[in-house]
Amino acid sequence: MATLKLLAISGSARNGSLNGRLLAAAAQAAASRGAQVETIDLRSLALPLYDGDLEKGAGVPEGAKRLRDALQAADGVLLATPEYNGFPTPLLVNSFDWLSRLQADGAAPAGLAVTAGKPLGLVSASPGLLGGLRSLNFTRQYLSMAIAMMPVPQQFALAKANEAFDEAGALKDPKHQAALEAVVGALVRVAAALKSPS
Ligand SMILES: Cc1cc2nc3c(=O)[nH]c(=O)nc-3n(C[C@H](O)[C@H](O)[C@H](O)COP(=O)(O)O)c2cc1C
Repeated sequence: MATLKLLAISGSARNGSLNGRLLAAAAQAAASRGAQVETIDLRSLALPLYDGDLEKGAGVPEGAKRLRDALQAADGVLLATPEYNGFPTPLLVNSFDWLSRLQADGAAPAGLAVTAGKPLGLVSASPGLLGGLRSLNFTRQYLSMAIAMMPVPQQFALAKANEAFDEAGALKDPKHQAALEAVVGALVRVAAALKSPS
């Protein structure tokens, strides 16, 4: 079968992001299962805060098309997001809100056509004791209910994430690594099953 392609997305663009580190560990776990992982930096999409007047005047920005194309090329998505006041970050939600405004144009599909039924693995990291669990549940609801993605049941919220990684970026606690592997393993299994010819 052709190589499984995953897209890694972080809801934090911050240098030294804990979620970026967790996403990198997840990407490594996916690569060790034979997947090819591409990463997209949401900040580099340069999407302004959604504004209907901007959309009316200039259309949906190019950055949303880049996100659509990256999602279209992927068999599944690995996503890590911080929790801001119990919610996923504005960067994450704004990016997918713009994506949802893209209509089909010639051969280019609509934004929501490329997310529909796309397998999704969700993780989060926080220095706090819940690891971003509250936001993870909203992220799951948003990306499945509104954006039509298909999250696997497993998820992992890494608490005290500021203490969780060694200098090489690996998770120090084997239980954390096992929880991460459970998400990645489920994502790889579902994405591979959907990719295989029926
Ligand atoms: C506006 C704001 C709100 C936050 N709210 C929460 C929160 O509700 N729960 C939590 O665990 N951490 C919260 N934090 C702390 C973040 O978890 C912490 O900054 C984390 O390092 C962000 O993820 P990153 O390292 O991937 O950028 C908040 C941080 C900011 C800036």
